[in-house]
Amino acid sequence: MHATQSALAMATYLLSQFPDAQQRLVQEVAGILEARGAKGESPSDPLSFDELRQLSYGVAIFNETLRLYPPVSFFIREAAQDSELVDRRCPMLSLVTISPWVVQRHGGQWADPHGFRPERFLGETASAADRQWAKDAFLPFGLGPRKCPGAAFALQEALLVLAELVRRYELLPDPGHQPELVARLTLRSANGVRLRLRERP
Ligand code: HEM
Repeated sequence: MHATQSALAMATYLLSQFPDAQQRLVQEVAGILEARGAKGESPSDPLSFDELRQLSYGVAIFNETLRLYPPVSFFIREAAQDSELVDRRCPMLSLVTISPWVVQRHGGQWADPHGFRPERFLGETASAADRQWAKDAFLPFGLGPRKCPGAAFALQEALLVLAELVRRYELLPDPGHQPELVARLTLRSANGVRLRLRERP
């Protein structure tokens, strides 16, 4: 699925740029694997569904990636009736473009709107305002009856890939490379997303 691919590419890019966040994720995964050792399960098996549910910082990283780089950067709705939108007439059948990119980076809502701060999606550190915008101004999967039915699947898939990746490799920036983002059907980097991987001991 293109959208998940786009999100995963940007998540790995962000982790390579923010080593502290990457280290925190590594520690979260290691903690889960250690607990598994105590139960006599194999440390090399992929994380199970129940273990993925414990990755709260991993979820925060994924959400912050979707906030900064929403794979579906805009979608369109048709007005079901005559209405008003921010003081403008919005006649029935008007097409309204909604852009998660704009809403999710709006300085009037989010603190440090362009900064990578997974903590804003973490129960223990999110401020009241963070929590409010995460509820009211975070729509990477759309909203309403046509909201993405694959959201929960995408989250599980992304957590599994990220956890399995960071437990084996350190993600490092590729000097001189910067993704050039283009919004086609999904958000993509025209020049790819390049990283360096160093195998962990
Ligand atoms: C990070 C990953 C994903 C993102 C950000 C995402 C985002 C979205 C968005 C914003 C929409 C609504 C578009 C609109 O309202 O016009 C949508 C629709 C949809 N998505 Fe996803 N999606 C993701 C992954 C997936 C996956 C993994 C699946 C399937 C397994 C999936 C299946 C669908 C389907 C079938 C629709 C159409 C729903 C409808 O029109 O009723 N998506 N997605």
